[in-house]
Amino acid sequence: MEKSFSEKYSNIRSVMLQGGGEKGIQSQHQKGKLTCRERIDLLVDEGSFIEDQAYVLGRASDFGLGEKHFLGDGVITGCGKIDDRQIFLYSQDFTVLGGSLGEMQAERIAAIQEAALKNGCPFVQINDSGGARIQEGVLSLNGYGKIFRNNTRASGVIPQISVILGPCAGGAVYSPAITDFIFMVDGISNMYITGPDVIKAVTGEEITHEALGGTEVHCTKSGVAHFRFSSENECMAFLKRFLGYLPLNNRERPPVVENGDPRDRETPAVFTIIPDSEKHAYDVRAIIEEVFDKDSFIEVSKDYAQNIVVGLARLGGRTVGIFANQPAYLAAVLDINASDKAARFIRFCDAFNIPIVALVDVPGFLPGVAQEHGGIIRHGAKLLYAIAEATVPKVSLILRKSYGGAFISMSSKALGYDRVICYPNTQIAVMGADGAAKVICRKEISESEDPKGKEIEKIRELRESFMNPYVAAGYGFVDDVISPERTRIELIRSLEMHYRKKENCPEKKHGNIPL
Ligand code: HXC
Repeated sequence: MEKSFSEKYSNIRSVMLQGGGEKGIQSQHQKGKLTCRERIDLLVDEGSFIEDQAYVLGRASDFGLGEKHFLGDGVITGCGKIDDRQIFLYSQDFTVLGGSLGEMQAERIAAIQEAALKNGCPFVQINDSGGARIQEGVLSLNGYGKIFRNNTRASGVIPQISVILGPCAGGAVYSPAITDFIFMVDGISNMYITGPDVIKAVTGEEITHEALGGTEVHCTKSGVAHFRFSSENECMAFLKRFLGYLPLNNRERPPVVENGDPRDRETPAVFTIIPDSEKHAYDVRAIIEEVFDKDSFIEVSKDYAQNIVVGLARLGGRTVGIFANQPAYLAAVLDINASDKAARFIRFCDAFNIPIVALVDVPGFLPGVAQEHGGIIRHGAKLLYAIAEATVPKVSLILRKSYGGAFISMSSKALGYDRVICYPNTQIAVMGADGAAKVICRKEISESEDPKGKEIEKIRELRESFMNPYVAAGYGFVDDVISPERTRIELIRSLEMHYRKKENCPEKKHGNIPL
C-alpha cells in the first residue's frame, strides 16, 4: 500500500476516535465522567470490541450544522465480549453536540439494535445525551421512533440494559424505560422528560437537575431505575457480573456457575432469624443469605417499594429469581408499588427462563383510601397476572404466614405454583386470627359478660384450629411441611423436580396485562 494512503487513513481514523475533539474530552473528564470509548474499554474484554459504521456523518446542515459534522455522529456502536460471551452495545458521545440524537446517530443505533436481535445477544445502551438534536427537528423524532420500536421488538427476546452516565433528557428517556434494567451513577446521571428550565417556564416550579431526576429520585421515589452506583467503574464491574446471571437470549437457559456452596448444606440459622410471633419483624434478606448460594444474591430496586424484595441469586449454581415479602418494612404488606415492582421482575424472569422462588410472609394487601383510589385493584392484578402467566418453574416457600389475596398471589397452586412448601408453624388463612375473630365471632364477643376475655378465647380457638399448614395441606394446597434447617436442600430438590417443565399456553397474539 502506498504510504500516503496509509497516512491519510491514520489521520481520518484518529479524527474519528477523537469524537468532538480534545477540548470536549477534557470537559468530559472535568465533569468527573469517562468518555464513550473509555466506558466501552471498561466494559468489554480487552481487544474484543468491533465497531460498526464508525465513519457515519450527519447529513443535516440547518442552523449551522453544516460546519459541525463529526465522524460517527455522536455515538459508538458495535459488539464486544464480556467473559467471552458476546454482547452488542452503543455508547453516546457527549463531546459531539452533547450526545444529542440526530438522524444518522439514530440510524447507527437502530442498526446495532437489529444486529443484537438477529444474533440473539444482550444489548447494552450507554446513554449520555441531551435528547433529540434540536437542529435536526423531526428527523430526530423519527429516529427515536425507530429506536423505541426496536427496543420493544427485542423485549423478552434479548436482555436489554440501559446505563445512564450523564443527562438523559426528553425523548432519550423512553428507550431506557422500555429496556429491562436501568443503571444510574450518583452525581452524573439525570433522567427527565423535560428539564428544570422547561418546568419553570410551564409550571413555575424551581428545581435542580439532581432533585428533578437524579439517582436518588429514580431509585427511591419513581422506581424508574433499578441499580445505583457511586462510580462508573463500580457500575461497569457490576454490569459484567449481572450479565453472568442471564442467558444470551430467550431460547437459552442462564449459565450454571457453581461457587462451591454444598447443595446439601443445612440452614439452621433460619430458626433464629424468624421470630415466633407474627407481630415481630425480621429482615428477609437474612433468610436469602442463609439459603441461597453464598454471596450470590443481587437485589433489584433495593430502595424502592422495600416491602417486597426482588432479585437474582443462584441455587446449586443455577440462576433463580426471588421475590420475597419483607417483614422489616411496612410489615411486608403488599401495596401498589410492591405489586408493580414484583410483577415486572417476575415477567423478566419468565421471559428469560429463570425459575421463580417466592418467599412468603405476608399479612395481605394494604387497606386504605389512598391505595383504593390509587388503583390497587389494577396494580395488584398485575402480580396475579404475572404469576399466572409465567411458565417457568415456580416454587413458593411460606416462611410464617400467608393470608388472603396475598396467599393466592404468592403461594397458591391454583394460580400456578408448581410446588408449595412451608414450615410447621405456618399460618394460612383468609385473614389473621385477630381480624377473623372480630368478624365471625362479633355477636358472641359483644354479648359476653367479659367481651375482652371472650375475644382472647376466640382468637386462641381460631389460631389453634385454622392457623396451621395442615388444613391447606389436607386439600393438597401445600405439598410438604419441612423443617427450616432443610430449606436449601428442599428448594434445590423442588426446583430440580420441575426443571424440565413445559407448559402449553392458549394460542393468542399477546395477553392484556392490567397496566
Ligand atoms: C442539540 C444539544 C442538545 C440538543 C445539548 N446540546 N443538548 N444540541 N440538541 N438536545 C449541545 C449544546 O448546545 C452544547 O453545544 C453541547 O451540547 C453541550 O451542552 P451544554 O449545555 O454545554 O452541557 P451541560 O451544561 O452539561 O448541559 C447538558 C444538558 C443541556 C443538561 C443536556 O445541554 C440541556 O438541557 N440540553 C437540552 C435538553 C433537552 O431539553 N432535551 C430535550 C430535547 S426534546 P456547544 O456547541 O455549545 O458545545 C426531545 C423530545 C423528543 O428530546 C421526544 C421523543 C418522544
